[in-house]
Amino acid sequence: MGRSTAPLHGGDLRRAAAVYGPREFIDFSANINLLGPPPQVWQVLSENLKDVVHYPDPHLEGLKADLASFLQVDSACILPGNGGAELIYLLPRLEGVRQVLIPAPTFAEYAEAAQACKVPIRYCPDLDHLEQGDMLFLCNPNNPTGKLTPKEQVWQLAQRADKQGALLVVDEAFIDFTPEGRAASAAPLVKDCERLIVLYSLTKLFAIPGLRLGCLVASRTLIDVLRQLQPPWSVNCLAELAGRAALGDESFRERTRKATAEEREFLYQGLLAQQGLTPYPSAANFIFVAIDDPSWTGTTVTDALGRRGILVRNCANFEGLEGDRHIRVAVRTRQENERLLRELADLLGGSR
Ligand SMILES: Cc1ncc(COP(=O)(O)O)c(C=O)c1O
Repeated sequence: MGRSTAPLHGGDLRRAAAVYGPREFIDFSANINLLGPPPQVWQVLSENLKDVVHYPDPHLEGLKADLASFLQVDSACILPGNGGAELIYLLPRLEGVRQVLIPAPTFAEYAEAAQACKVPIRYCPDLDHLEQGDMLFLCNPNNPTGKLTPKEQVWQLAQRADKQGALLVVDEAFIDFTPEGRAASAAPLVKDCERLIVLYSLTKLFAIPGLRLGCLVASRTLIDVLRQLQPPWSVNCLAELAGRAALGDESFRERTRKATAEEREFLYQGLLAQQGLTPYPSAANFIFVAIDDPSWTGTTVTDALGRRGILVRNCANFEGLEGDRHIRVAVRTRQENERLLRELADLLGGSR
């Protein structure tokens, strides 16, 4: 069985099968809702498969209206897209973006997007370097660390960005998994901040990463410019229907928050008890873990688990992390979390 060379991207089951051998994996490497999609998503998908013979709606007024009421903004301030990733790639293409600021470690696609359009990147250790660039990415809560920046601090940062003529991009792909949920979102602030852009992904909360759906929230002026950078028909008809069916289900969000909080605590305590590991407190549906045992690295733990059918995210290729000493694990169901903890105990020698 071949050993991995570069760390696998989260959720890359095909490459995992090529590296560790084909089998059923439990995937802790992608941070998807442990409840799976809400039932109405399966229903609209199975009832509307026949729609794929038509082009999707290019205007998406209904989806925008549903997103607008969900995110508490005006629908003219919304640009839906083919997952958050597509939309991230539009941002450094905005006129006047000459240097992108990225607090490290964070989601790698911000840097990839800037590099794709040849905009220089500057990594910074915290959020206090706005004057050094024209666009600052803030992942909130942050992937991979799980740290949540309070809304008040986001507001202050947005004010500073406004004064300095910089753009602040707040990526809220995981905000609905935090204890505060929607209340932590900066989206409603866009009406008072011309230079604030909020990115939202529906693929995590509604467990539809294969279907793709996300949106940008910003001032009407910025949204009009960004729309012109986007290819037509980005959102396919099934993603639109699934998103609309799921967005109205408040009880699903409530159940998600509760189940995530319970399992996050269970997994965090289990990891804390494990010798050789230090988990970081997290507000999200994943936990960042430092490998303290010097006989192991992020890569060797990831590979040993992979050979046992368990995928975790090796963080060795995250900018801003020292050495090869971290992994990130998704919060999954109790049974799956117990399995991960058992396998780790078996590898690392049990509890401290
Ligand atoms: C922080 C963050 N933002 C955005 C995305 C993009 O999500 P998607 O393109 O599935 O909407 C991801 C995916 O892993 C992510 O981790």
